[in-house]
Amino acid sequence: MRDQAENLRMKMLESQGVLGRSIAIVSGKGGVGKSNFSTNFAINLSRLGKKVVVLDMDIGMGNVNILIGKNAQYNLKHYLFGEVSLDEVMYDGPHNLKYISGGSGMSSVMEWSKDMIQALLNAFEQLQKTFDYILFDMGAGATNWSLNLISSIDEIIVITTEEPTAITDAYSMMKYIHVKDPNKTIYLLCNRAYSKEEGQETLKRLENTMKQFLKKDVILLGSLPEDQVVRKAVREQVPFSIAYPDSNISRTLQLMVQQFVDRNLVEVHGYNKKSAFISKLRSIFSKGSD
Ligand SMILES: Nc1ncnc2c1ncn2[C@@H]1O[C@H](COP(=O)(O)OP(=O)(O)OP(=O)(O)O)[C@@H](O)[C@H]1O
Ligand SMILES: [Mg+2]
Repeated sequence: MRDQAENLRMKMLESQGVLGRSIAIVSGKGGVGKSNFSTNFAINLSRLGKKVVVLDMDIGMGNVNILIGKNAQYNLKHYLFGEVSLDEVMYDGPHNLKYISGGSGMSSVMEWSKDMIQALLNAFEQLQKTFDYILFDMGAGATNWSLNLISSIDEIIVITTEEPTAITDAYSMMKYIHVKDPNKTIYLLCNRAYSKEEGQETLKRLENTMKQFLKKDVILLGSLPEDQVVRKAVREQVPFSIAYPDSNISRTLQLMVQQFVDRNLVEVHGYNKKSAFISKLRSIFSKGSD
């Protein structure tokens, strides 16, 4: 159990607004571009001088490390089992960004020991104090652990494409998140849009559905174009915003990130929202482990 002094200190940090923003990148349907978006979003944030860490929560296959062409010898699991320190699972990415590979097999919170839970909470607290942005690339497929993690993260970016199945799956995911926490900040992004207009139309339709059926306002991040440089960059294992900075998608993303950072948070959230990340995680784990 954490002592009162530590609790008080976290509360003070939160009220001063110095804790990093936790952001999960999710989708309903797999393969819509989460890992590419997370990596390149992070690079653009770093270019603006922000301190960013990306956590690759893909179960099974680490994605982000492949995209940036580096191998992660240790992952979060090694840290949780006490085999290595947090620093040792944090790897350098381009532009000063850091990344952590989530590791496979963390499917159920119920199987976690008290020591592992405490280690996870310590790690995420540390990250929130060190970084401006903590991005979670959530990987395909919802497990008990990933859904719990998503519900504790403060802001969620939901990615869809123009495909009907991706749209309905994005809606289901947003509904799930909204039912668990109606105050969650949800952003919506359309990837692989064939035109700006078509992307916007997809976003508007989903936005209206959320309003009509769930009375929930989402924030439209905009759309990213279908661009052949993405596939090329993946093959070359260099993120597209580094390999092809003048491409359509790189320029569009750069603008999007600038707008994202410039947004007034109080305006976005409708109220002066405090980070609830660690306290939510703690309550989820205390339910899971007792
Ligand atoms: N804007 C785009 N234009 C063209 N191709 C794209 C675009 N975004 C993604 N892709 C293609 O889709 C593939 C899958 O992207 P990515 O791995 O980022 O998806 P994901 O949502 O992370 O997948 P998973 O659900 O398996 O984790 C990429 O390798 C690339 O070929
Ligand atoms: Mg992925």
